[in-house]
Amino acid sequence: MKMTAVQIKALKGSQKIAALTAYDALSARYADEAGMLLILVGDSLGMTMLGYETTLPVTMDEMVHHTAAVSRGVKEGLVVADMPFMSYQGTTEHALENAGRFIKEANADAVKIEGGAMRAELVEKLVANGIPVLGHIGLTPQSVKETGGFKMQGKTEEAARALMDDALALEQAGAFALVLECVPSELAQKISAALKIPTIGIGAGPHCDGQILVFTDVLGLGLGHVPKFVKKFADLQPQIQSALTAYKTEVENNQFPSG
Ligand code: KIV
Repeated sequence: MKMTAVQIKALKGSQKIAALTAYDALSARYADEAGMLLILVGDSLGMTMLGYETTLPVTMDEMVHHTAAVSRGVKEGLVVADMPFMSYQGTTEHALENAGRFIKEANADAVKIEGGAMRAELVEKLVANGIPVLGHIGLTPQSVKETGGFKMQGKTEEAARALMDDALALEQAGAFALVLECVPSELAQKISAALKIPTIGIGAGPHCDGQILVFTDVLGLGLGHVPKFVKKFADLQPQIQSALTAYKTEVENNQFPSG
């Protein structure tokens, strides 16, 4: 049975939510068969799969294309499409139209947008139009040019208070859950306790209602920088590299195909 945003929301306090990113039908099928309740087509697509330096160049067309592939690979998990940079920061009409594309063209179940209280009005509008929204506060990679890099957020008392206010505003606006990225563990614990909707942490300690990681990080597949908080549950990159080298060598040495 397909998971819904309402069911994810209702898991608060009863079951930890295991979530993972996926970028195509293959990675989505692996994630779904492992039982991930929420599968995010993150705009990390840009860095993990498309060879961009940051998430900023990722386009709506790229996200719709990859989200549609993920939806084809998933039978049960909730598919959430990440709205890319500048697809929702302009007018509400533009944001609604883009969010609608994920539902109509890519069969997504929900969208994710970055930002706190300043996005509350938009979240309310999307939800009122039947589009479930996953919020995302703390480190928001689409704002790194303004915030000054990939750093832990909410470290001062003032910043912690602002993050708490952001979380409450998004809950009030109707978000079904909230990603907390790179915030101190004690703050994530306080925010999680204050909210009725689940928090899904990444680099935010063990007290969130769920956790999310990037597909390539979990499997040790990436070639780039891996954040310190990541746990690699496998180290596949060297195995893939040596299998491909073995294939090339066997072809060149007339060992494959045999007979
Ligand atoms: O783009 C992404 O993969 C994300 C997750 C890391 C939460 O936003």
